[in-house]
Amino acid sequence: MQTITTVAELRRELAKACSAGKRVGLVPTMGYLHDGHLALVEASRAQCDVTVVSIFVNPTQFGPNEDLSSYPRDFVRDEKLCRDAGVEIVFAPGAQEVYPAQFETFVEPGELAKPLCGAFRPGHFRGVATVVCKLFNMVHPDVVFFGQKDFQQCAVVRRMATDLNLPIKIVTVPTVREPDGLAMSSRNRHLSKEERRRAVAIGRGLFAAAEEFRAGVREVEKLIAIAERQLETVDRLQYLELVDGDTLKRAESPLRFPAALCVAAYVGSTRLIDNVLLGLPTP
Ligand code: PAF
Repeated sequence: MQTITTVAELRRELAKACSAGKRVGLVPTMGYLHDGHLALVEASRAQCDVTVVSIFVNPTQFGPNEDLSSYPRDFVRDEKLCRDAGVEIVFAPGAQEVYPAQFETFVEPGELAKPLCGAFRPGHFRGVATVVCKLFNMVHPDVVFFGQKDFQQCAVVRRMATDLNLPIKIVTVPTVREPDGLAMSSRNRHLSKEERRRAVAIGRGLFAAAEEFRAGVREVEKLIAIAERQLETVDRLQYLELVDGDTLKRAESPLRFPAALCVAAYVGSTRLIDNVLLGLPTP
């Protein structure tokens, strides 16, 4: 495995892979890797000849009062996890490599970036779309792998790839969960033991609603209420919305498919997101 920090070196290495006709997979991450990331690596290794894992805590997707400085980082551990998982290249650029002096060109997503997280994190998806587009241009991957936990991010990136004619296949990999149902997230490490116990309510709420959906319930308000009941132990529910799976607009009763029940909640000072797809084929 190689660790590369500059775009020039990355391009040199990938040119070799490209001229050998190899298929390149990209797993974009902000590091502090967990089993969810490793599932993306596994999917990439199954579909591609060379897997590049990018590790870059992207400042432009954090708001001024968000957790950029406290975002968990452990590069040595990440490198080891990547090596053990069979990754060929870890791309870990510094901030100047990604955002040169006088940087001023952004990718501005549209309507898909407005609801859900977009309503509470202004500029977040502009930062995500910009860095993902830049990573696409740096790596020129054939396939890119994202986790379904970041449901809205997947939608925004897919739209961007279509709108900007990026010849890249985008694969969404199902959310990896702890045995008690908590979605894996780098931010889980901020939870105290007591908060960790209460955080399990997020998955429980979503699964309870999904169960009712499977039993035939199609009323939006009823499904939301079922999830909300479980969510009493979180400290602050930022949103709990049932949305159209394609447009991300609020779903109406009777529910049409595909739909997604999405949640963002604070447990202590940690903001967690999760979602469950209703009536969608598993990606
Ligand atoms: O999902 C993430 O970790 C980040 O949003 C991404 C896609 C790596 C962009 O910084």
